[in-house]
Amino acid sequence: MGAILKTENINSGYGKLQILFDVSVEFDKEGITAIVGPNGSGKSTLLKTIMGYPHL
Ligand SMILES: Nc1ncnc2c1ncn2[C@@H]1O[C@H](COP(=O)(O)OP(=O)(O)OP(=O)(O)O)[C@@H](O)[C@H]1O
Ligand SMILES: [Mg+2]
Repeated sequence: MGAILKTENINSGYGKLQILFDVSVEFDKEGITAIVGPNGSGKSTLLKTIMGYPHL
């Protein structure tokens, strides 16, 4: 199945604080994709970066 959204090597964070290091994810067109991880692991930061949040 094809991907509806794909990222390659995202590096992101807040100012000088880097949170995401080379994050590559692929969301398939089919089904539901969940982002799972402990508190503070960067789930929201990943989505904010994909959405173009002006936080950098
Ligand atoms: N506005 C901000 N400025 C500086 N650091 C931030 C900011 N927002 C989040 N962080 C830090 O970035 C890291 C990742 O946070 P993030 O909110 O992306 O995690 P999360 O996986 O969504 O956590 P949770 O499960 O609690 O929602 C944490 O160390 C957090 O303290
Ligand atoms: Mg969060």
